[in-house]
Amino acid sequence: MTSFTILALGGDGIGPEVVACGLKLSDAVASQAQIRLHIQEDLLHGAAWQAYGTFCRDETVRAAQAADAVLVGAVGGPQWDGIRVAGGPEMQDGLMRLRKALDTYAGLRPARAWPALTALTPYKSTLLTGADVMVLRELTGGAFFSEPRGHDLRAGKRYAFDTTAYDESEIARIAHVGFSLARSRRGTLVSADKANVMESGMLWRQIVSEVGRDYPDVTLLHLYADNVVYQLARRPADFDVILGDNLFGDILSDQAGAIAGSLGMLPSACLHGLPQGRERRPGIFEAVHGSAPDIAGKGIANPYGTLLSVALMFEYAFGQPLEARRIEAAVATALEGGWRTPDIGGHHSTVAVTDAVIAAYRVIG
Ligand code: IPM
Ligand code: MG
Repeated sequence: MTSFTILALGGDGIGPEVVACGLKLSDAVASQAQIRLHIQEDLLHGAAWQAYGTFCRDETVRAAQAADAVLVGAVGGPQWDGIRVAGGPEMQDGLMRLRKALDTYAGLRPARAWPALTALTPYKSTLLTGADVMVLRELTGGAFFSEPRGHDLRAGKRYAFDTTAYDESEIARIAHVGFSLARSRRGTLVSADKANVMESGMLWRQIVSEVGRDYPDVTLLHLYADNVVYQLARRPADFDVILGDNLFGDILSDQAGAIAGSLGMLPSACLHGLPQGRERRPGIFEAVHGSAPDIAGKGIANPYGTLLSVALMFEYAFGQPLEARRIEAAVATALEGGWRTPDIGGHHSTVAVTDAVIAAYRVIG
């Protein structure tokens, strides 16, 4: 029997609650798919800070590197926002450290319209028909990691600065992922940049075009990032894969949440590229939503983002795309059956929604 190791990191706020549900679904899928799962658990970000005085321990990084997949809940909370730690941006945030250590440069953030949730979106249903977008975000470079960065006093004023820098190989590798994803979907890649005003944007555009020569079957469109935000708001169904750097991808993936009815519905996979044959490096699977400290511990957090992240984990970490499609179908069934947490207009608990998805999965599988 094939076996895989999951490092489960609940993190902060509602994170541990949704990760527990993700593991429950993983167990159900694994037993159906004849897979053995080994689960390890650890603390991340604020929870790690409280226990160990660091946002992510070296032990946690090593366990992540040795695992097949890392399932993350959510990180952050106002009590940890102002803490400054030496050692660069990755030491400021547990998730950022893991992304850097695992070199998960490709952030896959799919968002689709769920017919059962159309009324929760700002869209007319006609605009959402067939909307199914994959935001591909560069995750380990750009504005969130480039040096120099810092804060000091200049001419007696508090001063802070960041840098957006990419070298051509960082752009090329994420572009390859974008074209490959587009090829496996509907064949269109929109690349978002600010080549009109940013040097890094000009290089981004040039390298994406160069990589595109290897994918003549994919239609490539360069758009300015501000225009992508506008067009995505106006006509979401026209987009297939949207490629953006770390900052633009962060913004665009939250915006894509509007298509799904709520940010709480969005899953993500952070990968060291797409798996090639049998070679796999550990990926991080996490819902895009935050830690929602205001509802932590109440049992009403929306688990769908995590359950859909489990689908991505079965697809990309365990090589089981069929199970991923079954999980997604089970989510659609549960939504149509009215299983909703309060944030998406229902009255069900996190656990009740999860159990409904598992029951639907068992029927489908
Ligand atoms: C996300 C989040 C993170 C990010 C934060 C928590 C560092 O917004 O995953 O989109 O900006 O990458
Ligand atoms: Mg974000």
